[in-house]
Amino acid sequence: MKKVLITCMALVTLGTADGYTQADRILDMQKMAQAMQDIQSGFFYNNLDIVTAGANDLKNTIIKVGPTTAEQNTKDVYEKWMNDNSAMTGRTQKRIQRYAKDIVEHFKAGDAQYALNIYNRVTAECMKCHTSLRKW
Ligand code: HEC
Repeated sequence: MKKVLITCMALVTLGTADGYTQADRILDMQKMAQAMQDIQSGFFYNNLDIVTAGANDLKNTIIKVGPTTAEQNTKDVYEKWMNDNSAMTGRTQKRIQRYAKDIVEHFKAGDAQYALNIYNRVTAECMKCHTSLRKW
């Protein structure tokens, strides 16, 4: 019991050291870019395993993306207002997670064309944030 408690405390301490930093987010972005490339390779090589691995990477990474801890704790009014867009991030995350699942399902079912359509929708979600919401 004591051991469990200590482990928990250690995890909390680790988790809150710097919270979610910009460096973390850039790394997550790079992971997602790789995941998108993997999915595309899977399409070209007609390989379900590669598509699935890419979709899983995408699903597991998008969930971490959001305002950094520093951004969340900012005192700047304008920054704070921008951070309220994190609700938007939540919707984007859910959508991309659903798309990742749909890509695999349709590709598995032999409908590569439809899987590609959904893939393009994911790209549109990425670019929507980059072009408009980039500052959250
Ligand atoms: C909710 C907003 C948001 C979404 C959605 C989003 N991005 Fe980003 N992306 C950013 C921000 C903000 C940056 C700039 C990095 C930073 O300041 O943290 C960035 C930067 C990047 C970079 C450059 C990283 C570098 O090395 O400088 C890549 C690559 C990237 N995103 C890929 C993607 C891909 C692929 C997707 C979709 C699967 C995606 N992003 C979705 C907000 C977003």
